[in-house]
Amino acid sequence: MNKLEKQAIEVLNNNWTDGFSIPCANLYPFQWLWDSGFIAIGFAHFDMTKAEKEIETLLDAQWENGFIPHIVFHTENDSYFPGANFHRSDLHPLASKKYKSTGMTQPPVTGFVLEKMYQISEDKEASLNYITSVIDKVYFNHEYFYNNRDPKNESLVYIYHNWESGTDNSPIWDDIWATMNPPEYTFERRDTTHVDAAQRPSKREYDHYLHIIEIAKEHNYSDEKIAELSPFLVQDPLFNAMLIKSNQSLIALYKLIGGNNDKIKQLEKWQEKGIESFNNKLFDEEIGAYIHYDLRNEKSLGYLSSSSFSPLFAGIPSKERAEKMVNVMLDKFGNKDQYLCASFDPTSNRFNPKKYWRGPVWINLNWMLFYGLKEYGFTEIAERVKQDSIDMIEKNGFYEYFDSRKEIHKDGKAGYGGNHFSWSAALLIDMLKN
Ligand code: SER
Repeated sequence: MNKLEKQAIEVLNNNWTDGFSIPCANLYPFQWLWDSGFIAIGFAHFDMTKAEKEIETLLDAQWENGFIPHIVFHTENDSYFPGANFHRSDLHPLASKKYKSTGMTQPPVTGFVLEKMYQISEDKEASLNYITSVIDKVYFNHEYFYNNRDPKNESLVYIYHNWESGTDNSPIWDDIWATMNPPEYTFERRDTTHVDAAQRPSKREYDHYLHIIEIAKEHNYSDEKIAELSPFLVQDPLFNAMLIKSNQSLIALYKLIGGNNDKIKQLEKWQEKGIESFNNKLFDEEIGAYIHYDLRNEKSLGYLSSSSFSPLFAGIPSKERAEKMVNVMLDKFGNKDQYLCASFDPTSNRFNPKKYWRGPVWINLNWMLFYGLKEYGFTEIAERVKQDSIDMIEKNGFYEYFDSRKEIHKDGKAGYGGNHFSWSAALLIDMLKN
């Protein structure tokens, strides 16, 4: 086993607590939805019991309406803001009675995570038994999305908060912040006591984040009210690509399990319509990639980000479109001085290679691009994405995100945010095996 893989295993084992993993110590002391999914893929390579438990614990926090929250507050811990007492999931009548959580979700990765775990498993029978015991919860979660977050019946779902996107402070949201004027809240940030503030969202950005939650809380996290009133209502290509990828996985897994024809049919319906709407509504011919749609203000948000290429992972673009996208990626993000793939367009004046989702490279997006590019036959570029990821981790450690500018990596200080970060370790393990 290579040294890097050994270190990655150590990171994962150290972040494992009682039945779930934290993304990293201090900065993120609870269970996060999409983190858990990626973490389970890493564990599946060397400890399937933990991988299964990780997902089981996450699904145990599912609400009675199928919703899965983005943070599950398993413990009391005041090193994070905003915590359980701010989010107040208990306001929603169908929230979990067992766990405190947020009232927002995160990209729906669990479907494709289960399929990956199955593919990795050396005991297919045991894996399929496990999957059979949890898969209906994931299906129920998808049903929640299509029934509650698709007001125009397009099989495209919305997110109502930037934290639901996973790409928290992306410059894309600046256009939405410009339509809002939230109060100046008084609160104590915790993230900036763990990490250099230059690498995190600003105080004013946090005012917007909190304000959207306050509106949702006023209406007890009612989906109808949020759809009507939230100043943030976006169809996000990354979020929808994850949902479509997970639909595909659920179909494949239900077929392996046998029976479940009604569910398979329903999933296929969502898929067909969803992929069509996705291609009609979210692809921008001029930009040459997928972009976000602002449902609240009824307009496209014409910015290139790593999310713009994520539909490759779900097989959404045609071969021709995929080629166009890859050319755009190489042209704008793939200059030889840049690591692939910056989280935001490096040629834009909103690009900041140090600040969270405004430019740095994230390993989870690279992981998706690696598989997506490979699937479409762009083997060399896929290899480059993989090699860049390995390089950045080797030079700096298992950081949360990395500067995209190669020259900054010379002294090994180009890793930012949390260190010993779980998904960077988990997905590195998976890429090393592929
Ligand atoms: N990533 C967010 C944070 O930084 C929450 O999901 O706090």
